[in-house]
Amino acid sequence: MKGIVLAGGSGTRLHPITQAVSKQLLPVYDKPMIYYPVSVLMLAGIREILIISTPADLPNFQRLLGDGRQLGLELSYAEQAAPNGLAEAFVIGADFVGDDDVALILGDNIFYGQGFSRTLQAEVADLDGCVLFGYPVKDPQRYGVGEIAADGTLLSIEEKPAAPRSNKAITGLYLYDNQVVDIARGLRPSPRGELEITDVNMTYLREGRARLVELSRGFAWLDTGTHDSLLEAGQFVQVLEHRTGVRIACLEEVALRMGYIDADECHRLGAKLAKSGYGDYVMDIAKAAGATA
Ligand code: G1P
Repeated sequence: MKGIVLAGGSGTRLHPITQAVSKQLLPVYDKPMIYYPVSVLMLAGIREILIISTPADLPNFQRLLGDGRQLGLELSYAEQAAPNGLAEAFVIGADFVGDDDVALILGDNIFYGQGFSRTLQAEVADLDGCVLFGYPVKDPQRYGVGEIAADGTLLSIEEKPAAPRSNKAITGLYLYDNQVVDIARGLRPSPRGELEITDVNMTYLREGRARLVELSRGFAWLDTGTHDSLLEAGQFVQVLEHRTGVRIACLEEVALRMGYIDADECHRLGAKLAKSGYGDYVMDIAKAAGATA
């Protein structure tokens, strides 16, 4: 399976912070926001990842992550010239996706919870059609919303409904079989002028090939779309990391644990960041894993 991180948009809800810098490069406590979605794809076992952003912002993502080889990844980059909608990612990324299945994750979505990587790997291995992830929120009208029957079947999906039929937001992580490229190519822009991911999901739903995996209590799906939610996400990560001493979405650590790099390679990555606590952490986990440095 391939992975796409969509990190476009103009971040107008965060102006003036995002007037000169991409939202997905803003810090969420100790690391840039995009580390969080990239770590999710890595934990799913995905190593070929396309990052899509605006022509102005793309070079900054490239400066941050390079070709990904240092993390045992193959990163590539593509431009989304205008905010034409999430589903355009599959049109832009059609050659990259090739004949594969593909996971799409939005560059501003943060997921945290025990057992998440196991859940992801199981869903990736078992994919038939599309898999969506639902999360209960108190303000579902801000999101795509799934309506679920008593037996767990997904009945409907609505984008930002005024009168939501449930409190289950559809999160910004989607797994699709290869048909998604053709579906996206066949979409027409919605009234707001975008190729809507909800229309892609509706196509699978109509075919009876859409599943919703519910992320339950105890799991955190965090929003970074407003000044308050951005700060709260950072505070959430800070509290967890301080309390446990373990960092979330540390790409070097994820690469090590997934076997994408070895302990010495991990240590070298940490040494490059040695002046920050983050770098110290990366060196410490590398040493604990047997780095000889
Ligand atoms: C998008 C999707 C929406 C989804 C949300 C998750 O909304 O359209 O269905 O629930 O991401 O973050 P946007 O954030 O683009 O308004």
